[in-house]
Amino acid sequence: MIIAVDGPAASGKGTLAKKIASHLGLPHLDTGLLYRAAARALMEHGHELGDKDAAVRAARSLSLCGLDENELRGNEMAEAASIVGAIPEVRAALSDLQRAFACRPGGAVLDGRDIGTVICPEACPKIFVTASAEVRARRRTLELRARGEEADYAAVLAEIRNRDARDQNRSAAPLRPAKDAIVLDTTELDIAGAFNAALAIIARYQSGSPPRAAPPAAPSRLDPLLRS
Ligand code: DC
Repeated sequence: MIIAVDGPAASGKGTLAKKIASHLGLPHLDTGLLYRAAARALMEHGHELGDKDAAVRAARSLSLCGLDENELRGNEMAEAASIVGAIPEVRAALSDLQRAFACRPGGAVLDGRDIGTVICPEACPKIFVTASAEVRARRRTLELRARGEEADYAAVLAEIRNRDARDQNRSAAPLRPAKDAIVLDTTELDIAGAFNAALAIIARYQSGSPPRAAPPAAPSRLDPLLRS
């Protein structure tokens, strides 16, 4: 079983994917770490984030076992990853690693932006996790403060909107729900509520009566869908 969990910044998709994987005993890949690691390698070697050739070299040199989550967290790295992730050749360079992970015997849970649309169109189920930009910004602000970092709600909200716009409007693999994705809006849900809702979606697929997917989202419909 391959489970795709996509969604915008700070939607909670990573937490959800991790919990689903642990519950089902499946391996989990946070694909954002790959884009963050590529961006970090560029920055360490003094390259511009838009330097396509250097970015592709950085992406090709990555391996899944060399990803240090602690080193790659943080807003600066997220923003850099979003810039590097808009380069189509970087996405192509990272796709085999992600597909190989997804095709492990027994299945896997992957979270990202294009798992259901590009990396694993065969994934089932595909869950697109979203929440209003305001709620996502509030959660991210609290999370940063809990880690002892300074965080200004208005600045976090602006950054989330900016990243949403870049991730949705890029030419390669833009952020959007796959046609057959189930949209899980967590605006009014806490982590436990979102987890239960996700498990209910998965159970419907396992019992052979999947819930109805959202109608296909044209780019102009994404804003209301992302509620930003
Ligand atoms: O999931 P995250 O916040 O760690 O992702 C950081 C950025 O990386 C995100 O804004 C866009 C990029 N990214 C991507 O383009 N495709 C993915 N599958 C995962 C992340």
